[in-house]
Amino acid sequence: IRQTWLDRIAAAGDAPALEDVRVAALGKKGEISLKMRELGKMSPEERQTAGAALNRLKDEIDAALRARKSGLEDAALDARLKDEWLDVTLPGRPRPQGTIHPISQVTEEIIAIFADMGFAVAEGPQVESDWFNFDALNIAPEHPARQEHDTFFLHRAEGDDRPPHVLRTHTSPVQVRAMQAQGAPIRVIAPGRVYRMDMDQTHTPMFHQIEGLAIDRDISMAQLKWTLEEFCRAFFEVEAVELRFRASHFPFTEPSAEVDIRCSWEGGQLKIGEGNDWMEILGSGMVHPHVLRSAGVDPDQWQGFAFGMGIDRLAMLKYGIPDLRAFFESDLRWLRHYGFAA
Ligand code: PHE
Repeated sequence: IRQTWLDRIAAAGDAPALEDVRVAALGKKGEISLKMRELGKMSPEERQTAGAALNRLKDEIDAALRARKSGLEDAALDARLKDEWLDVTLPGRPRPQGTIHPISQVTEEIIAIFADMGFAVAEGPQVESDWFNFDALNIAPEHPARQEHDTFFLHRAEGDDRPPHVLRTHTSPVQVRAMQAQGAPIRVIAPGRVYRMDMDQTHTPMFHQIEGLAIDRDISMAQLKWTLEEFCRAFFEVEAVELRFRASHFPFTEPSAEVDIRCSWEGGQLKIGEGNDWMEILGSGMVHPHVLRSAGVDPDQWQGFAFGMGIDRLAMLKYGIPDLRAFFESDLRWLRHYGFAA
């Protein structure tokens, strides 16, 4: 029987098969174990020779099992090493690198320029109460501006009597929030998303504005003009810019001005600071006393200017991009074409 077992061990092709052989030989009901038990029925002399022989056989089978087991393990390891080799000298696979969205890049540029002039960044919610978006800004409920803005209103379930909310139509409510939080004097800019129901080549229902607010004892339109000129020089990276202040009307500023920048369109190429064209870039004015009052700031002691510009518009002008909608389509070919993605 010795050779039978040694043959079976040699023939076991993997660890489970080998374990089966072990159980059949040395397990509780294995052949060798049963033979061990039969020793009890033998005479003492018989038992001595048969017992010794059986023990030797058991040791031999045990040793053969161990040897076969480590042999199988080596073979398995060799197979893995052959399969799973790794060439550490191969160059890595390049992974596409993400880039900052152009609007975010331009927003950062604008923030940096105003930071140099002492403006901090303020923020407000995109879902805004209609009090902050309109009433606090001197836009009464029946004011046509509420329709002009093509406002998105939030639906309220019947019986829900929380105050009405809208998607903010401009960043101007942040003026009121910032003054309520910090009081005067204050110098902040507030970049962010705004929403209006509008869609064509130069309008998307979501776009970006940046609000500016400077309130102190004696801030004037002259300082507004200087601030905006400095900003445009830095942003468009030109020596001289020329701004044109056009009298206008906003409920939250008095007086109000829309501001155009001198530019030229030659062969479809936009140049800032020269030429005979004017491009509107922002709305501005002296903050209306009603607005100061809704923000808890005393208009007899404090005054200042505010402005609001379209970030997307500024980005289009700076990078010569004709279609606003493309900004929000995440088309890599477009982003690469304008150098916004690798
Ligand atoms: N909120 C105005 C708009 O969205 C812009 C503006 C801001 C005008 C601040 C004056 C002062 O058109």
